[in-house]
Amino acid sequence: MGMKRILITGASRGIGLELARQLLKEGNTVYGTYRNKNSSKNLFQLAENENKLQLVCLDVNSSESIKSAIRTIEENSPSLDQVFNNAGILDWNSLKQISVDSFKEIYETNVIGAFQVSQGALPLLQKGKDPLIINLSSRLGSIGLRGETQLGGAIAYQCSKAALNMLTKQSSIDYLEYGVRVISISPGWVKTDMGGLEAKYEVPESVKLILSLLENLPTHSTGIFVGEDGETIPW
Ligand SMILES: NC(=O)c1ccc[n+]([C@@H]2O[C@H](COP(=O)([O-])OP(=O)(O)OC[C@H]3O[C@@H](n4cnc5c(N)ncnc54)[C@H](OP(=O)(O)O)[C@@H]3O)[C@@H](O)[C@H]2O)c1
Repeated sequence: MGMKRILITGASRGIGLELARQLLKEGNTVYGTYRNKNSSKNLFQLAENENKLQLVCLDVNSSESIKSAIRTIEENSPSLDQVFNNAGILDWNSLKQISVDSFKEIYETNVIGAFQVSQGALPLLQKGKDPLIINLSSRLGSIGLRGETQLGGAIAYQCSKAALNMLTKQSSIDYLEYGVRVISISPGWVKTDMGGLEAKYEVPESVKLILSLLENLPTHSTGIFVGEDGETIPW
C-alpha cells in the first residue's frame, strides 16, 4: 500500500489513466505520461487535484522523447519502484488485410517502446524498493491459446504482444542481477477506446483487479504472464 514512485506510460486515457487514479488514491507518487495535452484533458484535470501526480510528455515511438522524459523524472525523483509499460495500440486487421506500415507501427509502440522505456528507467529502478516492471500484455498475444479460443484476427497486435512477452521473459532474466523484476499482465477485456463498449470489464474494475494482484504477488515472482483474475496464462 502506498508511497511508491510509479511511472505509467499512456496515462492520458483508458487503463493508464485509471491506474494513475487508483495508485494516487493509495498515496503513491505517479509519473503519468501523455503525448498531447489537448487530448489528455482528464489526466490534466486529475493533476489539478493531486499534487503527487507529475505529468511527463512522452511518445514511446521516439528515443529522444524517452530520454527527455527519463531526465525529467530523474530531476524530480531519486528512484522508481514500478514502471507500467501501458502505452499500446491495436489494429483489428487480419493477416490478409494488415498493412506493412501498421504492422511496423504496432511493433514500434508495443514492443520497442516498452523495451526503450524499461532500459531508460533501469538506473532509477535499481535504486527503488522491490522494483518491478509491469508490461501490459494481452491474451491475444498468447501463442498457447491460439486456436483454443475465438480470439484472433488482429495479427500485428497478437504478434506484438507475443514479442512483448518474450521481452518480459528475457528481461526478467537479464535484470535479475539488478534486482529488477519484470512481469506481463493481461487486464482482461476492458471498456476503453481500444476494448470498445462490448468489453467485459469497466475500467475501474479491471484496474482494481490488477492492483490487488500486484499487492498479493509473491516478492520473488518474475518472468510470469498472468491475467487480471490471477491465473497464469500460457505464453
Ligand atoms: N482494453 C482492453 O481490452 C485491453 C486488453 C488487453 C490488453 N490491453 C492493453 O492495455 C494497455 C492499455 O490499453 P487501453 O485499453 O487503455 O488503450 P487505450 O484506451 O487505447 O489507451 C492507449 C494509451 O496508450 C497511449 N499511447 C499510444 N501510443 C503511444 C505512444 N506512441 N507513446 C505514448 N503513449 C501512447 C495513448 O495515448 P494517446 O491518448 O496520446 O493516444 C493512450 O494513453 C495497452 O497496452 C493494451 O494493449 C488492453
